Amino acid sequence: MNVYFLAGFGGILGAAISLRADLRRRNLVLSRTSGWNLATVLDVLCVAAVIGAAAALLLSSDHDAVAGELLSPSTWAIVACVASSLFLWSEGRHQIQLQRPAGIVAGEALFLFGFYQIVSVFTGKELAMWAGMTRVEALGAGAVAPIVAGGIVLALVLPRFVTGHEEHRILDRIAAQGEFEQQEYVAPTPECPFPNRWKMVDAQSAELEVLEFLRTLVKTVKPEVILETGTFIGHSAINMAEALRSNGFGRIVTIEYDPAVYAKAQENIKASGLGEWIDSRNGSSLDAKIDGQIDILFSDSDVNIREQEVRKFLPLVRPRGLVLIHDASSDFKVVRDAAWRLEEEGLLSVVMLSTPRGLVVAQKREGRS
Ligand SMILES: C[S@@+](CC[C@H](N)C(=O)[O-])C[C@H]1O[C@@H](n2cnc3c(N)ncnc32)[C@H](O)[C@@H]1O
Repeated sequence: MNVYFLAGFGGILGAAISLRADLRRRNLVLSRTSGWNLATVLDVLCVAAVIGAAAALLLSSDHDAVAGELLSPSTWAIVACVASSLFLWSEGRHQIQLQRPAGIVAGEALFLFGFYQIVSVFTGKELAMWAGMTRVEALGAGAVAPIVAGGIVLALVLPRFVTGHEEHRILDRIAAQGEFEQQEYVAPTPECPFPNRWKMVDAQSAELEVLEFLRTLVKTVKPEVILETGTFIGHSAINMAEALRSNGFGRIVTIEYDPAVYAKAQENIKASGLGEWIDSRNGSSLDAKIDGQIDILFSDSDVNIREQEVRKFLPLVRPRGLVLIHDASSDFKVVRDAAWRLEEEGLLSVVMLSTPRGLVVAQKREGRS
């Protein structure tokens, strides 16, 4: 078979497979406009183009090392293309999981291409298509133009990302695209080396498995009063309220600081039909007043105030009640250290569940029998 045909076919196939997988993980479909904008189009096209180019180069027969040279121009192009494909694919994943702005992958791809071209020109490893040009022409067309274009794209999309709150970016994403299941976002930790075995809907709401655990726990211990700090958009509160409804009694008080987030939580709680089980409040957990005793305290607000929250509400927790503290993995050191400190002081007996973000399940020592 003609090598150019094979390379061309492989390139198109590689780009098409990459495009399909990328759209899937981004919850985008070609027949629906929601979630699309020009920057998103550029992101998915850049990744598909680089992966297609890697496939085409791999299938062309022209990449044997030239005698006496470590890398021929086409072998170097393959190495650069494959490495860039891996990098851009993982950047796409981070973009989805961490609500990084649309356009960031395209900007990075343009930068990478420019740097590839600079290295190629200065090491004499340009592909044939650039080799006929003078060094200035090859650098101008192949390096400066993409680096400037990449810089402009990044300058346009990054400032809003750097200054905004993650909670609000998630709200924007949900408004544009709705919610969808994704792989857990955190990096491996010594206690949880395979976080990608867990699922999430966003990086603020607890892992789906933790939400299921909360629901089951509420069914198991049948609390009368649950206090949750940090409602976000209501996933954990709604899951626990579902269990309260199944128990037939109890209530959950959930507190959210951010008004825009609180409004979205209200909307979700209303849509869930579980409003009568949920006392949803807008304010800071540190100012909250709770009547009576608490059977389950679920501390899931700002990581820096979790210890304060536990100390504040611990006297209200029943002797056989439970204290749950989310985000206690070794990655969120401030929470984990706080949990160990509370144990060392004799206030809590702590079990650390090795979930991706870490979950403390504890009981207070005082009054246990
Ligand atoms: C990790 S999210 C909560 C996720 C939620 N529990 C779930 O799993 O669905 C943390 C939330 O706590 C809120 N928050 C931060 N500081 C707070 C405070 N002092 N009081 C109440 N909420 C707070 C943030 O606005 C954010 O929405």
